[in-house]
Amino acid sequence: MERMRGDEPVLEIAGLSKTYGGRAGVRAVQDVSLTVGAGEVYGFLGANGAGKSTTIRMLLGLITPSSGAIRLFGRDLRHGQPLGKVGSLVDGGAFYPFLSGRRNLEVLAKTQGSDRGRIEPLLAQVGLERDARRKVKGYSTGMRQRLGVAAALLNDPDLVILDEPANGLDAAGIQEMRALIRSLAEERGKTVFLSSHLLNEVQQLCDRVAIIDRGVLIRESTVDELLQEEATLRIVATPLETARAVLSADWPCEIAGTALRVTAAQADAPEILRRLVAARIEVFSLAPQRRTLEEAFLAITQTETGDA
Ligand SMILES: Nc1ncnc2c1ncn2[C@@H]1O[C@H](COP(=O)(O)OP(=O)(O)O)[C@@H](O)[C@H]1O
Ligand SMILES: [Mg+2]
Repeated sequence: MERMRGDEPVLEIAGLSKTYGGRAGVRAVQDVSLTVGAGEVYGFLGANGAGKSTTIRMLLGLITPSSGAIRLFGRDLRHGQPLGKVGSLVDGGAFYPFLSGRRNLEVLAKTQGSDRGRIEPLLAQVGLERDARRKVKGYSTGMRQRLGVAAALLNDPDLVILDEPANGLDAAGIQEMRALIRSLAEERGKTVFLSSHLLNEVQQLCDRVAIIDRGVLIRESTVDELLQEEATLRIVATPLETARAVLSADWPCEIAGTALRVTAAQADAPEILRRLVAARIEVFSLAPQRRTLEEAFLAITQTETGDA
């Protein structure tokens, strides 16, 4: 018998591939492997057409993988339903257009056997209480998206899978969505797997990210690791020219205004400081400049695929 252990990953994907339309078809996902632990907010990042929705549809059992394995709560998806509850939002959710937002949730609660008492607090949580009586037909994309999140949470899932939850939301809506997703993980201990093509979104929200590019997973790491690699150190020192001369043999340097910008791993900072001090250079400050994930993302996709 399979049992769920506390330290077991909530989601494991191994060698997952999907080709649409036979052997000569579109290779939408190729040999993707990743692991998501309990309580993590995990970002699945990639440009449009990268293969995010295809992967998510496979996780939800909506389409069949061409090859590879998916384990949810320790059980292979091919061997039956997951042992924990999964809630999901794909394609902005499917709703009856002529029913109100609240009525849609009531119908869903009935079909999946969820507690109706969860509906009002969820409507409030996603900021739809004022519009809950309106027909979904008249909803904006952002309102549908929020109703979709409420629907995903209706069965009180342990794992929440959200395909592009920020889609169609304005800046304020994105802020609210972000707060909501964080609260799911922090206050309720849920595991969240979300996809996005918005780098900034993932950077602010997620603990770890996987980057998918044209169907291929090119990185999996913590957001912090990604940002710290090849950090730029900004050094204010005098004389600046001498500082450059001392460091430039080992690290790329350029003078930018009153500072020296050095491309180096953050782990090199102590050595850099020692060398400057040994050369009797006066150092006023030495600070890492975090790259945005956007810069890291571009650097990775360009070096690993060559032609971007
Ligand atoms: N049902 C389908 N039939 C054929 N090709 C598809 C289908 N769905 C997606 N694709 C193709 O698979 C690739 C990945 O698409 P998708 O998973 O939707 O990417 P993303 O969600 O990252 O934008 C794209 O080239 C897309 O055109
Ligand atoms: Mg998609």
